[in-house]
Amino acid sequence: MDANRARRFPFVPSQSAPVVIDRTEGIWLIRDDGTRILDAGGGAIVTNVGHGRADVVAVGAEALGTIDYVVPLWATENRVALIEELTDHWLPPGFDHAQFFCGGSESVDAAVRLARMHHLALGRTDRWKIVGRDVSYHGSTLSGLSVGNHDRRRAGLNPMLHDHPKSEWLDPDALAKVIEQEDPNTIAAFIGEPINGASGAAMVPPDGYWTAVEEVCRAHDILLIVDEVMTGFGRTGTNWGFEHFGISPDIIVGGKGLSGGYVAMGGMYSTAAIVEPVAAAGLDLMYFTFSGADLGCAVSTKVLQIMREEKLVERAASMGALLRRRFEEELGDHPNVADIRGLGLMQGIELIADRDTGTPFPRSIEFAQQVASAGIERGLWLYPCGSGPVEDGLLFGPPFTIDEGDVEMIVDLTKASIDAAASSLASRSTT
Ligand SMILES: Cc1ncc(COP(=O)(O)O)c(C=O)c1O
Repeated sequence: MDANRARRFPFVPSQSAPVVIDRTEGIWLIRDDGTRILDAGGGAIVTNVGHGRADVVAVGAEALGTIDYVVPLWATENRVALIEELTDHWLPPGFDHAQFFCGGSESVDAAVRLARMHHLALGRTDRWKIVGRDVSYHGSTLSGLSVGNHDRRRAGLNPMLHDHPKSEWLDPDALAKVIEQEDPNTIAAFIGEPINGASGAAMVPPDGYWTAVEEVCRAHDILLIVDEVMTGFGRTGTNWGFEHFGISPDIIVGGKGLSGGYVAMGGMYSTAAIVEPVAAAGLDLMYFTFSGADLGCAVSTKVLQIMREEKLVERAASMGALLRRRFEEELGDHPNVADIRGLGLMQGIELIADRDTGTPFPRSIEFAQQVASAGIERGLWLYPCGSGPVEDGLLFGPPFTIDEGDVEMIVDLTKASIDAAASSLASRSTT
């Protein structure tokens, strides 16, 4: 595509023309000049069954040819079938209530509203605050930004955001203190990502963290919302990220992997104990116009079935372990790598200017972005991220269908991209 035409695409213009993708296939993003980019970021940690699957496309075409739009309040075969697939094979026992949305941010927004409605229905009218964490990302609606704390993504918007309380990320004692300070009777829920995604590059909490958080919440009738938008649907090698930590949430939020990236989908899942009081009090949760589109439900059911039939969650665990091992072998001593972490096929690398002193790159350099640009030049897409204490991170979330050769390619190209970004920085600072 002519670069000037492509430049019309970004809403906020940028100096460089956007990458133009012609088609997607397997683990590959194919550019308009025919060159291939290995999708090690799975887009934005989305694709799980791989790109361009004819079986998914066929289901989508049939669904669209049968029903286009039906108001979200009514049932269709595809809507009910997705709820059945989820309750039969994916959700924990008792999670019989599902509502679908167009992505993670909408689903988080709904979960926050559900938590408030639940308490309101039980007469706890003062409970409305949602406690989040200082390192977190819960989407870019104003409610998602308010309960999250991704400083780059909140920048400039602070006056418009509600300042929900935040607790220190890895410290359940700090959470207990925040709850006491705020008054537990004003708190509706705690929200957290089982493993931090865009804010912290796959930071995995230590043993005991999540069970301590659950205990504090239970002691004060505070609902536990797990934001599984990135970690859900097998990404970390189990159906849900929270399963690694032995806790029982009240509300699960998901998105991304639900549809494998083929259509815009997200969802919120909960139990009768949370939802029935809302119904009994005559309250409701407003949907969005495109919530639970029939096409989205049909495609998502197919993607989930493929994951089961092809044992892709198990594959995310085994290929993730391999990717991690190879990263550690090849990058464990790299001067610009502070840490390698994650679970399953959600792996992260934290980048640092000086490993010995622990000095990060100045934010103005946007080092992770530079590594991502170097990756694109070399045929690799990785997801640059970071906020607050994690200035520069790389996230990896490839399709679960990758093989051993693909893992080697990801590791080689990642190393080459970090080296290229570091040496280009060094040469700029000496000239
Ligand atoms: C944990 C988490 N929550 C919410 C969101 C927002 O999802 P979406 O971008 O689909 O609105 C994201 C997106 O990256 C996420 O990682």
